[in-house]
Amino acid sequence: MALLDVRDVTMKFGELVANDRVSFTVESGSIVGLIGPNGAGKTTLFNCITGFLKPTSGSVIFDGADITGLTPYQIARMGAVRTFQVVRPLKEMTVFDNVLVGAFLKTSGNREAFARAAECIEICSLESLQEKPAGELSIGGKKRLELARALATRPKLLMLDEVMAGMTSTEVKVSVEVILRLRESGITLMIVEHVMEGIMPIADKMVVLDGGVKIAEDAPDRIINDESVIEAYLGAKYAQRFKAQKEGGLIG
Ligand SMILES: Nc1ncnc2c1ncn2[C@@H]1O[C@H](COP(=O)(O)OP(=O)(O)OP(=O)(O)O)[C@@H](O)[C@H]1O
Ligand SMILES: [Mg+2]
Repeated sequence: MALLDVRDVTMKFGELVANDRVSFTVESGSIVGLIGPNGAGKTTLFNCITGFLKPTSGSVIFDGADITGLTPYQIARMGAVRTFQVVRPLKEMTVFDNVLVGAFLKTSGNREAFARAAECIEICSLESLQEKPAGELSIGGKKRLELARALATRPKLLMLDEVMAGMTSTEVKVSVEVILRLRESGITLMIVEHVMEGIMPIADKMVVLDGGVKIAEDAPDRIINDESVIEAYLGAKYAQRFKAQKEGGLIG
């Protein structure tokens, strides 16, 4: 059974159909990439899955339960947790305390929450920054803090909305390592990303949205040869570059 089963989800904002009968599944233990041009409906779909929006129609099944219309808090407690494209840490609080807030979602025990926060700080390579006010971090640091805070809630499904955006290529590499470590620890991941070098080599499956409609769902190496995806999003140049990288043994 899939961990996440999105069935015919439609989200309308007035006349605008931001998600149009989108269906796909996320298998337990996998990494699924969600890509598509700006305004394709990726963040809206995350919002529908995690309870920040109630879909106009369709349903979301998570871990065998229908979670359509539940609140973000209820859904997070069940184990589906997301990060935000626009990071919003509690700026005055330290990095450590921000992560601690996440840890308290699943435990009220101080000792357990502190231990979990420390563990997540380490996994996300934030040790040297943990005493700083969150507002002082670079974009890359803030993105890793978002990740640590979500991780602290002990999710089964972690949904990342552009965690690699604005990062240097070194930071992208660090993030990819962190994500692979998370998968090894048993977390299922769904990742919205424009940074193709970050997502393509690690995803088991890619789902592609364009204008609210799912135009493709397939393995990354088939997605890059899919003409509708190239036309809508990747562009022919990218497909050539990816092929050359693959042949050169640089990725995947
Ligand atoms: N709360 C809202 N009210 C009205 N329209 C919205 C709302 N949220 C999103 N939209 C519209 O829905 C469409 C999809 O937006 P969404 O943010 O989901 O795209 P996206 O794929 O995440 O884009 P990006 O890659 O730029 O982050 C856009 O046309 C957007 O303007
Ligand atoms: Mg978005």
